[in-house]
Amino acid sequence: MIHAASRTIDTKPYSDQRPGTSGLRKKTRIFLQPNYIENFVQSVFDTLRETGIQDFSREMLVLGGDGRFYNRAAIQIILKIAAGNGFEQILVGRGGLVSTPAMSAIIRRRSALGGILLTASHNPGGIEADFGIKYNIQNGGPAPESFTERIFAKSREINRFYSLDFPDIDIDREGSVSVGGSQISVINPLEDYISVMSRIFDFNNMSELFQRGFRLVFDAMHGITGIYAREIIEKKLGASPGTVIRGNALVDFGGLHPDPNQVHAANLVRMMSSSSAPDMGAACDGDGDRNMILGRNLFVSPGDSLAIIAQHASECIPGYGAGLAGVARSMPTSTAIDRVAAESGTPCYETPTGWKFFGNLMDDGRCTICGEESFGTGSDHIREKDGVWAVLSWLAILAARRRSIEELVKGHWQAYGRSYFQRHDYEGLESRAANEVIDELRAKLSSLPGSVLAGGKIIAADDFQYTDPVDGSVSSQQGIRIILNDGSRIIGRLSGTGTVGATLRMYYERVLNRGDEPIQKMLKPLIESSCEYFQIRSRLNREQPTVIT
Ligand code: G1P
Ligand code: ZN
Repeated sequence: MIHAASRTIDTKPYSDQRPGTSGLRKKTRIFLQPNYIENFVQSVFDTLRETGIQDFSREMLVLGGDGRFYNRAAIQIILKIAAGNGFEQILVGRGGLVSTPAMSAIIRRRSALGGILLTASHNPGGIEADFGIKYNIQNGGPAPESFTERIFAKSREINRFYSLDFPDIDIDREGSVSVGGSQISVINPLEDYISVMSRIFDFNNMSELFQRGFRLVFDAMHGITGIYAREIIEKKLGASPGTVIRGNALVDFGGLHPDPNQVHAANLVRMMSSSSAPDMGAACDGDGDRNMILGRNLFVSPGDSLAIIAQHASECIPGYGAGLAGVARSMPTSTAIDRVAAESGTPCYETPTGWKFFGNLMDDGRCTICGEESFGTGSDHIREKDGVWAVLSWLAILAARRRSIEELVKGHWQAYGRSYFQRHDYEGLESRAANEVIDELRAKLSSLPGSVLAGGKIIAADDFQYTDPVDGSVSSQQGIRIILNDGSRIIGRLSGTGTVGATLRMYYERVLNRGDEPIQKMLKPLIESSCEYFQIRSRLNREQPTVIT
């Protein structure tokens, strides 16, 4: 039911509000257009109504974002639309802040109908940079594609939205106010998340690590994890003040690209290679769902990080003491976790790129720990990936095993072999050319098996298709895979989150028993021969990738 006092405001549809891999992401100025946010949010509510929730008067909505430019203003707009649409309760994080994993935790813990997150994740922030909006459903995870496609359909025909008039809410002070039929509560964005973490981890045990002199540098990249890391790692675990660097959330992330990889967190990488380097380096992205783990002079590849967490979790982290129901990775992610799972007889699932595919497995109790090569790791405690959780998992393992990061990583390679892995991104490509290249290659995939590539023989080539084992839904065209007889893999797919032109992501993996070879040398033949198949020089006019991770 629409609240009696709410106004019905005429609007015109936009044609470009189709959510991608992780919500609607665009240049900030696009969001600043008249009624752009209003239309999208009303389309979400209209979709909810169409899918059976007619009346919001007993429902709770959670609202927050990563603090980037336009976060605060957008929150005031959405509060009015949510109240106009008659939500009984609207929770908003203090300061308009809620990390992506904390949003998932709040929705689940408080049985909310869903949440609206304002973030463009690891993309830069500012009026000339990126903004984003995403709807998370009742299980705490991103809305599935069937739902986001309906939002898109609604957004293309919308002609009105509902809004309740009231003065801007003071979002910097915790407390509740009633407007119309809604109660708006400004909540502590840390509380639910910390409560979930304290049930998984034994903070007391972990604090002994710091008492023994362990040194960590946590780079929040001026994103949202600063407030979470200071509270948990510095205050609760007793790491020394200053462990969290770049911990204050800035609207433009200090002009940085808040993406925790070796390119964008180069400062941290440098710190970890100095002679006085701490024992561990960690970084998270703007909205807190991604993470990077570093040892002294050692980059832990996300696929290895996932596999190592899965390898030690049941013995080192109390929350997983009962063992893992299953593990999962996205298709391009290295196969390191597959080998860990195989050894312990744990089911291992391979899903398309994007966190939403893990949600179904988790809701069905099939998967405990999962991750992606794109610096995303997480578990079934929520339905988003979780950067701070990954850092805490490493700390718990380090505390229990009393070994260094290097010893853990090398021990893993020794026991399971090493996946030499790299991702090359070609950004800002002309969309048509990129799509044509993929279409042409797709058309000839079936003729590839048997041919020689990089000194090996192609044994399989396809465009990855996934049938969800829980609901049977089929996702096709999820990435070109070329697999060689020695297990090497070349994967190419177009990004679903880029905001300018097209981005081609190429993934290379080679598995060897030895762990000490230079990665460039190991992957060079795969990289060179794939450039031809994907016509990277000839059609896409690129000599070098934009970013290598
Ligand atoms: C990228 C990553 C993917 C991740 C997504 C959201 O998507 O590759 O693993 O889930 O961001 O963080 P892509 O741009 O490749 O579609
Ligand atoms: Zn993110």
